[in-house]
Amino acid sequence: MTLHPSIGTSSAGVEQPWWQTAVIYQIYPRSFQDGNGDGIGDLEGIIERLDYLAGDSSDSLGIDAIWISPFFPSPMADFGYDVSNYRDVDPTFGDLETFDRLVDAAHRRGIRVIIDYVPNHTSDLHRWFTDSRSSRNSEKRDWYIWRDAQSDGSLPNNWGSPFGGPAWTLDPTTGQYFLHQFLPEQPELNWRNPKVERAMFDVLRFWLDRGVDGFRMDVIGMIIKDAELRDNPPNPEAPVDLPVNDIFGRQRRLHNEDQDGVHDVLRRMRLVLDEYDGICGIGELGYSLERWVRYYGDDDELHLPFNFRLMEQPWDAAAIRTSVEALEAALPAEAWPTYVLGTHDQSRLASRIGTAQARIAGMLLLTLRGTPTLYQGDELGMENGVVPTDRLRDPQGLRLGPARSRDPVRTPMPWDTGPFAGFSAVEPWLPITEDYETRNVAVQAGEPVSLLNLYRALLRYRRDTPALLSGSYETFPAPGGCFAYVRRHESGDRLVALNFTSEPLHLDTQTMRGSIALSTHRDRGGSFVESFSLRPDEGVILEVES
Ligand code: GLC
Ligand code: CA
Repeated sequence: MTLHPSIGTSSAGVEQPWWQTAVIYQIYPRSFQDGNGDGIGDLEGIIERLDYLAGDSSDSLGIDAIWISPFFPSPMADFGYDVSNYRDVDPTFGDLETFDRLVDAAHRRGIRVIIDYVPNHTSDLHRWFTDSRSSRNSEKRDWYIWRDAQSDGSLPNNWGSPFGGPAWTLDPTTGQYFLHQFLPEQPELNWRNPKVERAMFDVLRFWLDRGVDGFRMDVIGMIIKDAELRDNPPNPEAPVDLPVNDIFGRQRRLHNEDQDGVHDVLRRMRLVLDEYDGICGIGELGYSLERWVRYYGDDDELHLPFNFRLMEQPWDAAAIRTSVEALEAALPAEAWPTYVLGTHDQSRLASRIGTAQARIAGMLLLTLRGTPTLYQGDELGMENGVVPTDRLRDPQGLRLGPARSRDPVRTPMPWDTGPFAGFSAVEPWLPITEDYETRNVAVQAGEPVSLLNLYRALLRYRRDTPALLSGSYETFPAPGGCFAYVRRHESGDRLVALNFTSEPLHLDTQTMRGSIALSTHRDRGGSFVESFSLRPDEGVILEVES
């Protein structure tokens, strides 16, 4: 079943593709809901919880699309980001039939389905790689990146892995090194080989034929490397306290990522997406604004290159405002902005900025111009879980030290106060958060002013407000500690004012009179104001009177 129409018409008659007005919710499937009682989340579990996300029920969260992190067959060296077969479902998560039911059930509720696409590397157990490593004459030899040691016996070049250690491993069978910027269990595909490109484009078609609505493309900026694999220079600005084996962290990554050639691949990849109707391509990448903006191409590459900048700023009004303004200024006319405040790779939002400011973050994310992506559990203000040393699982933490472990942001979703927080019938793969009895979906659903109910209210309001869906962005003058902006639309403007401090602030609204539509405190709405004060940690949306 396919959702129609792929172009929605907002109430003001503005035509926009669905992914511009959508709010995307990231599901980390191992930790969302366990459907078969083995302690690990799965696709059946996602189906069971779809009503929580969207649908007819008035207490649904009200998101528009889910992005599901990898569920493909995998030895789980990097929890699914090491794929051994791109065209199936790992038995831990279900099977293709379950996936088809999931797509169908999501579409019936109006939820689009975006899946992860991991093009940079496969698992070392993918048959392409087992074939490739079997002999220098293998038909698949050139599907991966093999090099001899240098004449003095040293590694082919100096690149490191974000997971620690060098990016090369010697394969004794054929006496050559293979490139893996992540784990040795994640050998990198050679995208300069047209056969690799063809096979990987067919993977997209395989899932598009099953009805998916888009892809989140893993480390997409890395798929093309410098043709000569030149050494990276040292980074003089690298922090001094990096773990000894963090070679990657000490280099300027000039030659291993963000090469010009990646744009040629992306343009061809876009043509594959465009063979289908209304498909959205999202890319995971960083880089400077000038380099990053090129990933939109001439509206012929990615629809949404992820923008992680708000997670990289200190949490203060000036830094966040500057980041938003720089992004708005850098975007070409056709390019649509997008914002992310949490992922399965970064410290939990509420742990980073505190519980009070988590409410400001929710209002910010859902009122800026652009497509927001919300990480599961951030709507509850989940904090980093406490994971005892003997239960650490993330390879990054195991190799670079517990401080770098991503396990704390991947702990199971707390649904209720029942055993194992309603996530599973048995002890889950990672511990349930310690505060689950007070911080869970059921408890917060019953508290009118909970963060969950604030998210619901914001999502509902956003969906009904053309200014928030498609209005322009303009910074509004505000005192220090406050970030305010106007979203202008012919159907009515909205002023958003966010207090990033724990002190009261007065905002001179000048000509912007109107009524308060929503406060993060949830205790004033509908009142007409000519100017107003923000209480500590308060954010407000004002419906401007024309
Ligand atoms: C991306 C994923 C991360 C994974 C890495 C290697 O950054 O988000 O979880 O470990 O790529 O695939
Ligand atoms: Ca399970």
